[in-house]
Amino acid sequence: MDKIWSGLVEHRRRSLATTIADLFQTDPSRFQTFSCEADGLLLDFSKTALDETGLNALVELAEQAGLGARIQEMFRGEAINVTEGRAVLHTALRAPEEAEVRVDDEDIMPQIHETLQRMEQFAQALRRGEVSGSTGAQFTDVVNIGIGGSDLGPVMATLALAPYCDGPRCHFVSNVDGADITASLAGLNPETTLIIIASKSFTTTETMTNAATALSWLHTALGEGANQHLVAVSTALDKTAEMGIPQERVFGFADWVGGRYSLWGPVGLPILIAVGRDNFRAMLGGAAAMDQHFKTADLRHNLPILLALVGIWHSNICGYATRAILPYEQRLARLPAYLQQLDMESNGKGVTLEGHRVSRTSGPIVWGEPGTNGQHAFYQLLHQGTQVVPAEFLIGAEGHEPELSHQHDLLKANCLAQSEALMRGRSAEQARELAVSRGIADADLDRMTAHLTFPGNRPSVTLAYPRLTPFVLGQIIALYEHRVFTEGTIWGINSFDQWGVELGKELAVDLLPLIQGGTDSSKDGSTLGLVAKLTAPNPET
Ligand code: F6P
Repeated sequence: MDKIWSGLVEHRRRSLATTIADLFQTDPSRFQTFSCEADGLLLDFSKTALDETGLNALVELAEQAGLGARIQEMFRGEAINVTEGRAVLHTALRAPEEAEVRVDDEDIMPQIHETLQRMEQFAQALRRGEVSGSTGAQFTDVVNIGIGGSDLGPVMATLALAPYCDGPRCHFVSNVDGADITASLAGLNPETTLIIIASKSFTTTETMTNAATALSWLHTALGEGANQHLVAVSTALDKTAEMGIPQERVFGFADWVGGRYSLWGPVGLPILIAVGRDNFRAMLGGAAAMDQHFKTADLRHNLPILLALVGIWHSNICGYATRAILPYEQRLARLPAYLQQLDMESNGKGVTLEGHRVSRTSGPIVWGEPGTNGQHAFYQLLHQGTQVVPAEFLIGAEGHEPELSHQHDLLKANCLAQSEALMRGRSAEQARELAVSRGIADADLDRMTAHLTFPGNRPSVTLAYPRLTPFVLGQIIALYEHRVFTEGTIWGINSFDQWGVELGKELAVDLLPLIQGGTDSSKDGSTLGLVAKLTAPNPET
């Protein structure tokens, strides 16, 4: 593989003089060659510096990394999460009932579908007002308490599918900051509020602390009836039982579903409650269609693989440290945060599967905001800053507001304008002409020409879809999941563990007694100084 890597670096060096715009000049069918579509979802990666030679080498890299075999291993349920000794089977949560997926020789599909049906029955009854709280009042509000993968997916998807939300109102509490739960419970009536405690481990401090606060809020109002307002989503059924949550209100799942890959099963309960059975199934269907495509399409025509190869090209060959997720879809406002966890918790690793130091940069920094808002905030840096940030645009042909289609036209125009501007830039000659046309005085011409020049040649990809339906959302999320897996495979890392989150958690446990008045001389001066500052009596209170 080293030879392919060095060949790619050399190829990049040799082709630096050719701009992305030049590539379009020499190949009028570049868009057709460097784009790919699956079930109506289009990936355009023609506005990158990749050419046939580069792409072929990247495809070879994926082949040499054994990607094909790894994909089959994942779908077959082999324990590819080697550091935790687990299979990785979020794909089974959205597989058709008749599929057969085995873990330790047991077909897991009957259990998955039994749980799905229980979730659906519960959600439908809740939506029809047939499930009531301890006083007999119907539930009108659902508060999901969870963090990380037990929060970000449901938050992102319920917002994305807002036009389909016709069930009880869903609220989300994640931060251990008391401000979060206070704001969410404010204005809610305990009699009509259902609390979902979502935690794979059922030990996460933030979730358990917020759950205790919510339980005491329920208790104060409802006394013994409080438990009738609880639902648990977890793999730790012993712990949900300890909390006294009745079995029929517990939705369990297995440890082969990673937290950040879990919205397809019980963690997705708030989505199901919000949008109903058919829409939830359509979302699963979109993801299943992407799974099928990922498994069967050849590497050169495979959306997740191509998106991953573009990612590798930008991170490892071009040396770009970050990637910006820019959905031109206000309802995808939480997609960047969702993808931050998916990508950075999965691929932010420094050692290989074998435990050796990785020899190349692995997961990039993922960030972003919806357009057009981002344009008025950080796009300045994208266009003229000293660092190149590959942009990933997402845009639908239609919105959900037909009466405001002229606004959607503006959205599309802005999205396409940005990728064009990033690629084309504005040459010094054009900038000078502009300065002259604006009546800039001769003495100022050189200075203003420099300010008005855009370097251009900045890469982007665009994902285009007909409309943000549940099916399309499922496709998009699964596309990114498989992209992350493909990149992780090429880097030789385990995309399914998260050891890097442990240390901070342990130290927080250590620090709490100190914050609450104890002493600990082993801490460094900065930590002790900050503890003193944060525990000093406030003269204003
Ligand atoms: O701290 C990281 C993490 O373990 C994530 O991987 C996970 O999604 C999140 O915490 C929440 O974990 P749990 O669902 O077990 O509460």
